Amino acid sequence: MKKISIYLSLIFTLTSCTPENQSITDSSETFLISPGKDTLITTKEGVEISISEFSFKSEEKEIELHIKTALDKTSMIKEGLITLTTDNQLLDSDGMIYIQSNPPTPINPQYPLKIRIPQLRIASDMKLFKGVEMEGQIHWQELGALNNNLKEKITLGQELYKENCTACHSENLRAALIGPPLGNVTLHRDSAFLYSYTRNAVKLIQDGHPLALCLFDLYNRQLMSPFPDLTKQDISAIYTFLESESRKQGIGIGEIPYIDSCYQDSGKIFFTDKNGKVISSRDTIRSTWTTTTTSIITTTTTPSTSQITRPSSSVKRIMKFYEFDIKGYGWYNVDLYLGTNSTIIENPKITIKSEPESKVTAYVVFKNRNVIIPLIHNAQEQVYYFSNGQLKDSIEFPIGIEMKIMAEGKLGDQHFYGSLDIVSQRSDNHYTLTLQPGDSIKK
Ligand code: HEC
Repeated sequence: MKKISIYLSLIFTLTSCTPENQSITDSSETFLISPGKDTLITTKEGVEISISEFSFKSEEKEIELHIKTALDKTSMIKEGLITLTTDNQLLDSDGMIYIQSNPPTPINPQYPLKIRIPQLRIASDMKLFKGVEMEGQIHWQELGALNNNLKEKITLGQELYKENCTACHSENLRAALIGPPLGNVTLHRDSAFLYSYTRNAVKLIQDGHPLALCLFDLYNRQLMSPFPDLTKQDISAIYTFLESESRKQGIGIGEIPYIDSCYQDSGKIFFTDKNGKVISSRDTIRSTWTTTTTSIITTTTTPSTSQITRPSSSVKRIMKFYEFDIKGYGWYNVDLYLGTNSTIIENPKITIKSEPESKVTAYVVFKNRNVIIPLIHNAQEQVYYFSNGQLKDSIEFPIGIEMKIMAEGKLGDQHFYGSLDIVSQRSDNHYTLTLQPGDSIKK
């Protein structure tokens, strides 16, 4: 019994406000809606809520909708949100939204509110969850599939990728093989380029396409085989799969470097990213193109030394949307389950040193995923544990995950803060974190 009360009191300190008063905090946006009219709301973070004229049965002239959104880890932490299910499984979130109406107005279930959450990458196998308050903190319960129906296209894309591309491009999308890793490629190249490049990269090189030439130089003048039989739909499916897989594998937005152009100087070729930063260089120079033994290359483009190739057209990053319907109020969340690839590891023990008596709030966040796990205090052992292990010695957890422990102490008006980078491992998981005066868990 004692343990439970310790758990309860700590959980209360972890969350700044309960769901009842959450709609009144600063971060919420208020919209005035006239029932009986089709309305489209767009929040500051770009979440779209479309309301049918039949969604609200109400005599009121106007009703207020209070909405909060948290689309990335920083806003989730600011909002005091975590990413555990009601039975403490790990989730990786692509966006949370809270909706409440004032005065309380039921939603007509035949005309649900249609929610669209924007992200740069959309992954298959994302599910919709509803927030359930447990001991003062929101946990998540699965509601089911989203409206996005990508499964078939992504399965086709995956098959085509395995069949045609993995001889030269890695399956984990991070490693370079004969060809470059293709993680996040859709964030760096537009679909017109990807289409013509996949159909026939050799032709682009022959035609003197500046980016194709730079890629050719960077990858040791290996030629990528043309794929004349892949249709537009096939190619679109491959890149939809690559986008989804990049998100699912937790490849950080800036993790894989992409070149944007190249130039030669003093007998070397320099490859630059879209900010002009040199990310690689090679000793060979361009003028050997014409004398290359690869007979396919017949172009006579012979740039003089120091000539800078035109930068490729920069890619407009297009927002995609996760779509779902809601028939009730409260918190909703779009997530992947992270249970797969977990092993039994020692539940990490964390000693947090702060001013005695200071009230400590502590989380663990994953580096490249939107995963937030609160830490809970074990008063007997004087340590904190990952709360999804519920004070047990061992815990089911993926290994090799780069994480950050973040903790904040409060004593009156004084704040203490500390963070520590760790990597999950099977055993020997004891860490010590010393909090210093300061306040930055929410930054
Ligand atoms: C025979 C090996 C080979 C195969 C098979 C292959 N590629 Fe490539 N790919 C390369 C090489 C090598 C490069 C680097 C450019 C060069 O050297 O021409 C490349 C580059 C690329 C790039 C450019 C990356 C960037 O930074 O823009 C894309 C996109 C790409 N490949 C997609 C594919 C797809 C999709 C398939 C399957 C349909 C595929 N490749 C099959 C060898 C291959």
